[in-house]
Amino acid sequence: MRKKIVAGNWKMNMTKTEALALIDELKPLVASDEVDVVFCVPAIDIIPAVEAVKGTNIEIGAENMYFEESGAYTGEISPNMLVDAGVKYVIIGHSERREYFAETDETVNKKVLKAFEHGITPIICCGESLTQREQGITIDWIRQQIKIAFLNVTADQAKKAVIAYEPIWAIGTGKTATSDQAEEVCGAIRECIKEIYDDATAEEIRIQYGGSVNAGNAAELFAKPDIDGGLVGGASLKPDFGKIVNYK
Ligand code: PGA
Repeated sequence: MRKKIVAGNWKMNMTKTEALALIDELKPLVASDEVDVVFCVPAIDIIPAVEAVKGTNIEIGAENMYFEESGAYTGEISPNMLVDAGVKYVIIGHSERREYFAETDETVNKKVLKAFEHGITPIICCGESLTQREQGITIDWIRQQIKIAFLNVTADQAKKAVIAYEPIWAIGTGKTATSDQAEEVCGAIRECIKEIYDDATAEEIRIQYGGSVNAGNAAELFAKPDIDGGLVGGASLKPDFGKIVNYK
């Protein structure tokens, strides 16, 4: 049985002071033995957040990472810096990074490989636009994103990866995919992983749904056989996040 994983994506929100207050508020609400809980926070909040969650079930993740070890890359953050700070997860290829910061499937692949090299679990994002959905090319598009993201990734590494299926039209819009729409794509992703690797890898890899997950829809989404939790934006900044973690 795959353990569910619910990750908050704070995006560009929360000063250090606000972050510490939010962690204090959420700590008791997200306590769970059944679900892995991750807060992916802005880079500047990582070090105080790691300190603040010590002794709890919460792990801290980053929202991005560069694919080089060190050097002349002004403004970037290296995998070693994240590991040294106590980061266990990193979101890779979120659609906002693809749209505003020119990330491509190829840079996603480089970052995924680098994260594994350093023992950080990547949360690899994929998702279609509304036009792609309306044109009926969702599954083709997602399969392409997955195949490039996993180039040269070994089966042992892939087993530990987390994939977040996030339809772009559902992010921050309040327009959640129906649980059937989400399951259809998450199932297709698992099938694609099976084709690239094998049954065992497809069985183990965890696939989240993301896009307007809230306290009211989490239970139905997470009950689907191929949905192993969620990547949560807006609702991860509120006490509702506790209800999403404890969705049952
Ligand atoms: P949302 O964001 O929950 O606010 O739609 C999800 C995400 O972008 O990861």
